[in-house]
Amino acid sequence: MSPDFICPDQACRQCARLVSFLEKNRKLYPDFFNAPVPSLGDLDAELLIVGLAPGLKGANRTGRPFTGDFAGDLLYGHLHDFGFSSGTYQARPDDGVRLINARLTNAVRCVPPENKPTGEEVRLCGQFLAREIKAMPNLKVILVLGGLAHNAVLSVLGQKKTAFKFAHNALHTLNWNGRTIRLLDTYHTSRYNVNTGKLTPEMFTAVFKTLTEALKA
Ligand code: URA
Repeated sequence: MSPDFICPDQACRQCARLVSFLEKNRKLYPDFFNAPVPSLGDLDAELLIVGLAPGLKGANRTGRPFTGDFAGDLLYGHLHDFGFSSGTYQARPDDGVRLINARLTNAVRCVPPENKPTGEEVRLCGQFLAREIKAMPNLKVILVLGGLAHNAVLSVLGQKKTAFKFAHNALHTLNWNGRTIRLLDTYHTSRYNVNTGKLTPEMFTAVFKTLTEALKA
């Protein structure tokens, strides 16, 4: 399957606001990646992790989800500690980190101004998320970081939002196209959430324990 099918290519013009933000950043930061950030990991993985969108000076700079972002430190650390990655995360796309039985993506693939995609941008980019999920034959669990990713996944899977309320460490069971997929919620690993104590490392570890059990089931 062509990678463009599941990730917008550089020529994607669907979200005018995001396209103009990328163009502005290409001038301001010519060394940055400044394009839709492709997912990391294999399509035959059982786990898909969905974040919000690339951070301006993190994933939008490095070209790999969560890489160089504050939010990536806790995430890549846990991926390593729970056996979902090999190599040592060094916040660089060439650090040799490989995901194991996991794939990492974002609900919105282009960096949004102030880290806030609009509802329409989430909806438009959802076509890529939908195709990506369809292209994962072994998918068992989707771990969503934050309420926006939770709602984006429910939308692309045609599920009722009122039936599946976001709650930290909640594990939902979705029936989709004759398949059972578990949806696991966590607060986002953003600097704000971590610094305010909304998400502690212990709380994130608890989510990874739930995740490991859900994958075994
Ligand atoms: N970086 C990403 O790639 N996604 C997020 O949600 C946050 C930071």
